[in-house]
Amino acid sequence: MSFAKPSDSIQMSLFPRSKSDTKIADFVTPKTYTGLAGFHKYWGKKPIESLCYLIEKCTKEGDIVMDPFLGSGLISLECLLRNRRFVGIDINPFSVEHASLLLNLPSRQEYYQALIEIENSVAKKIRDTYRTSEGKIASHYLWEGNELVTVWVKPETGRSRIELEPSILDLNSYSTYKDYKPLYFRNLRFFTNSRINVKPTMTVSDIFTGRAMRNIDLLIESFSDYPARLKRALLLTLTSSAGQMSNMVFAIKNRSKGKKNGNGSKIEVGSWVIGFWLPDTHFEINVWNCFNNRANKLLKALPVMRQAAYTVSNDPMTVDAPGCEAWLINSDCRSALKKMPSQSVSFICTDPPHSDRVPYLELSELWNSLLGYTVDFERERSLFLMQRNVRNQRLTIIQR
Ligand SMILES: C[S@@+](CC[C@H](N)C(=O)[O-])C[C@H]1O[C@@H](n2cnc3c(N)ncnc32)[C@H](O)[C@@H]1O
Repeated sequence: MSFAKPSDSIQMSLFPRSKSDTKIADFVTPKTYTGLAGFHKYWGKKPIESLCYLIEKCTKEGDIVMDPFLGSGLISLECLLRNRRFVGIDINPFSVEHASLLLNLPSRQEYYQALIEIENSVAKKIRDTYRTSEGKIASHYLWEGNELVTVWVKPETGRSRIELEPSILDLNSYSTYKDYKPLYFRNLRFFTNSRINVKPTMTVSDIFTGRAMRNIDLLIESFSDYPARLKRALLLTLTSSAGQMSNMVFAIKNRSKGKKNGNGSKIEVGSWVIGFWLPDTHFEINVWNCFNNRANKLLKALPVMRQAAYTVSNDPMTVDAPGCEAWLINSDCRSALKKMPSQSVSFICTDPPHSDRVPYLELSELWNSLLGYTVDFERERSLFLMQRNVRNQRLTIIQR
């Protein structure tokens, strides 16, 4: 693929370069991520309001828009909803998987039906692994290092949790799965990276308890007979909740100190925000609850009626061919771009990797491992190195 000469292109920046640059005022104020945009985390995800503005202002119906660093892929759906065609490329298989979900969404009814069936087949088996000596189901375990300090259960009525001293049964339930070897997680690969607290010696067993891995395996098994569209939605629901199922959920202490009615002793549940780390005081959360919470989030965001799937190809050589509405390509963009027909796209709206600061593949390693993908770490890193000296390269717009 070749690009139009720089003199034929307009370059703009999302971020004002000087105080007199008023273009920023044209962008609608981004809201918080809601609906489909809020369903799954992705590092560097950009607000859809700004993307929609760009698509509407800079392109017309029928145009082909490209993002060679697709990320969450939210832009793909926004383009197609506006009758543009779209090319998305990303080295991260998760990115293409997420965009594929957006372009082929199950209806709320069929996703709901699948959730009911999954609940009937595995929820009890999962919940039973969290049963306390009083017959209740634990929602959270609070660990300090290797010591289980408190067990939380939800009351039958009311919102306040009940906090219990761990019993022998709690300790035995944990020990039953202590050496569990996961069936579906492929071996995670980590590098030395102080920014996200990863060490090459870490394995999946550092991040999850055996009980959590066994319950995740049960969930994945229960997805196996669904058609591809639903299976993808279910697996992405799992990846979306996997951080919360891990030992990386930290405990927030002392937040209420100094506040009215607060003595600072209350412990709150933090969340898995970014990176891998092993907080000493951490929670182990009931895997079924984590899955169920994320599933409800997606359920609310799905269209009530099933929409026709968009026609999607993964072949860069066919970009611009009639009959196809989108191309989602899992590749190093430097290879994919070379295969695309010259001048086949009219608009590029992209947001390259943030130099060497955010290792997207490492951060998505957990998700990719659950999805069964292996990833091309080396190619991503070489791009980071190439970019080390590139500045002001955030959201770049090139229009022919
Ligand atoms: C800043 S993120 C894009 C975020 C996106 N704009 C969004 O709203 O979600 C940059 C993306 O570039 C991808 N990337 C890194 N190296 C790449 C390469 N060599 N080829 C294609 N994509 C690459 C990363 O996987 C990451 O998804």
